[in-house]
Amino acid sequence: MKTLQDSFILKNGVKIPCVGFGTWQTPDGETAVMAVSEAIKTGYRHIDTAACYGNEVGVGQGIKASGIEREKLFVTSKVWNTERGYEKTIAAFEKTLSDLGLDYLDLYLIHWPASSSQYDNWEEINVETWRAMTELYKAGRIKAIGVSNFLPHHLEALMKTEVPPMVNQIEFHPGQMQTETIQYCRENDILVEAWSPLGTGRMLNNETLKSIVDKYEKSVAQLCIRWCLQNNILPLPKSVTPARIKENTAVFDFAITEKDMDTINAMAYCGGSGLHPDQVDF
Ligand code: A2P
Repeated sequence: MKTLQDSFILKNGVKIPCVGFGTWQTPDGETAVMAVSEAIKTGYRHIDTAACYGNEVGVGQGIKASGIEREKLFVTSKVWNTERGYEKTIAAFEKTLSDLGLDYLDLYLIHWPASSSQYDNWEEINVETWRAMTELYKAGRIKAIGVSNFLPHHLEALMKTEVPPMVNQIEFHPGQMQTETIQYCRENDILVEAWSPLGTGRMLNNETLKSIVDKYEKSVAQLCIRWCLQNNILPLPKSVTPARIKENTAVFDFAITEKDMDTINAMAYCGGSGLHPDQVDF
């Protein structure tokens, strides 16, 4: 990867720009409009949102305000947990498109798996949600489909369906490796995307990262983003601050040494959100 516009290629051949612009916790309205249009002007070609972020209207307006041609942009959204199942997922997708002001999505994800802590028939619910995603995909309304926060045991049933997931977006940053899930995704040709690649900001004062970063003349944020890319994981850094939006793109003019990669990869658990897909109560 040499620029923001270089891509990973999904198993169906769809190209996905290698750094996405995250919008979790970006307020709707003028902040979302400003952040998204600023990101696109800075060179991001991949915007990640979700119905539950409550900012799809602002994100869509930001896309329009940037003036970019739709086909030059990769847009992801996600179906929220209250909308699981076939019919509700189809309706949620239509609402997302209408809120964004778009007529197709590049990528649509199931935001969280239904899990055994909440449902006896959790697997059946996930398969029903997936049936809707598959139908929308086959109808050409979405270019690629995937999941988010799925562990291997959640993925298994979907891997046996007609169109298995192409992407799994998980919490991933130094101190939060999710090794088993990543291994499973690699074996099944599922691209892993990193939400909170900076640990929602919690990793920026980490002493290990601070001790490594100086020789690169980069910030810890840039180190975290570059580290994702060198692990073949697609980072989705979020910012509403123009200088940081730009800073987070300057990750192609340095390479982390193998030794430093090993040190970061071996960091003990830290800075995580603590949200476990089988235990969350939302
Ligand atoms: P803000 O949006 O106010 O600029 P993550 O991508 O892991 O979710 O982290 C997002 C958090 O990190 C936000 O609080 C964001 O702040 C902050 N952030 C993003 N980029 C940088 C940066 N380059 N330097 C410092 N903080 C950053």
